[in-house]
Amino acid sequence: MSRTFHIAPSILSADFSRLGEEVRSVIAAGADWIHFDVMDNHYVPNLTFGPMICEALKPHAKTAEGVAVPIDVHLMVQPVDSLAQAFAQAGADYISFHPDASTHVHRSVQAIKSHGCKAGLVFNPAASLDVLDWMIDDIDLILLMSVNPGFGGQSFIDSTFRKIEDARKRIEASGKDIRLEVDGGIKGDNIRRVADAGADTFVAGSAIFGKPDYRAVIDGMREKLSTP
Ligand code: DX5
Ligand code: ZN
Repeated sequence: MSRTFHIAPSILSADFSRLGEEVRSVIAAGADWIHFDVMDNHYVPNLTFGPMICEALKPHAKTAEGVAVPIDVHLMVQPVDSLAQAFAQAGADYISFHPDASTHVHRSVQAIKSHGCKAGLVFNPAASLDVLDWMIDDIDLILLMSVNPGFGGQSFIDSTFRKIEDARKRIEASGKDIRLEVDGGIKGDNIRRVADAGADTFVAGSAIFGKPDYRAVIDGMREKLSTP
């Protein structure tokens, strides 16, 4: 199985007083995607940023050469559809939501795609993947939470490894080009195990933004991923 690995720094752990600069710095350090955590103080017990911040950051989400870097919006909100539309208009490239936060999961996915965005489904640590029996042909991304959603800096929950393996099998069986992203508690010392279980996209917030040298952290992660 050949997979390209993507590292998606979560700006939840960035310095909010200078977010544009943080996005540019982490892209200069090698970020493949920018992970944008939207929390509503309802679906999760925390409140972050909305579509206006996404729109303001969009011009910063590109390399020094001007190549666009995808904005990966992780919606931890309920209901889903009106905000998904607002994020599509604000320049999101991927929009993912938790199926348990939407009354009509298929409709929400279609709505995201109708705006030209790629659609993802997110699974909490205790959530079953069963909805994929019916949705896998319609999505571009599976996002597995390896912590409970709402806060950065938590520890990786080990049962996620089994779930990554299960999701990878489902993707292989579907024959579709679907990214398998894991979110929460990923650091240099466990990223390789997460990849070996079947993930190809890695969200990391505190591991990157908590350190003075973003390039050193991202290079260290890539080294772990490439060492035989
Ligand atoms: C948690 C968020 C994560 C968070 C991860 O609800 O979805 O994206 O930023 O943070 P770390 O990498 O610090 O666990
Ligand atoms: Zn996230």
